Amino acid sequence: MLMKPLQMHINFKTGEFNPNDRTNIRKLSDMKGMFSDSRAEQQILAKEDPIIYSFRERVLPEESGHLQLAVTSINPGRIGQEYFMTKGHYHQRPDTSEVYLGLEGEGWLLMQTEKGDFASLIINPGVLAYIPAYWGHRMVNTGSTPFVFFAVYPGDAGHNYGDIERTGFVRILVEQDGRPSLLNNPRWKK
Ligand SMILES: [Fe+2]
Repeated sequence: MLMKPLQMHINFKTGEFNPNDRTNIRKLSDMKGMFSDSRAEQQILAKEDPIIYSFRERVLPEESGHLQLAVTSINPGRIGQEYFMTKGHYHQRPDTSEVYLGLEGEGWLLMQTEKGDFASLIINPGVLAYIPAYWGHRMVNTGSTPFVFFAVYPGDAGHNYGDIERTGFVRILVEQDGRPSLLNNPRWKK
């Protein structure tokens, strides 16, 4: 069926989509065990359940030939020394790529393969990152304001969160002496 062309407006500062079909909220309780400092996680959860990030989507066909569009905003903050971040995922169809474009704030893009190859890129407004097929990806807010970015990826890529939940990331991004520092993740399992 022939789909009609469409347009939307993105507020670069807030990440709001208009029109917006779906807003997804990820709180700390949705990410249990993903941050390395489990004591800090428990201490925070005993008092509050902060929103780590939210993402907005235009609902489009999840089919080959189409594209998916999303804008994510990660709040500033840390669990222990580790910065707020997205869950991270591989694609269900691992041979699909993705583009991230920084809109507001600053952060790092962490990428890894299932074999343990690792890469990172610093993302600022206007920086576009091309994430090739087979690289799992996670965004991290290293700034003191919301980190907002746009994503576009194939319609049939799908999300595989489970493998990252099981293995973690090869490296974690923590604040040390007031600046971001990559450390080997002791809990990383191939
Ligand atoms: Fe993705």
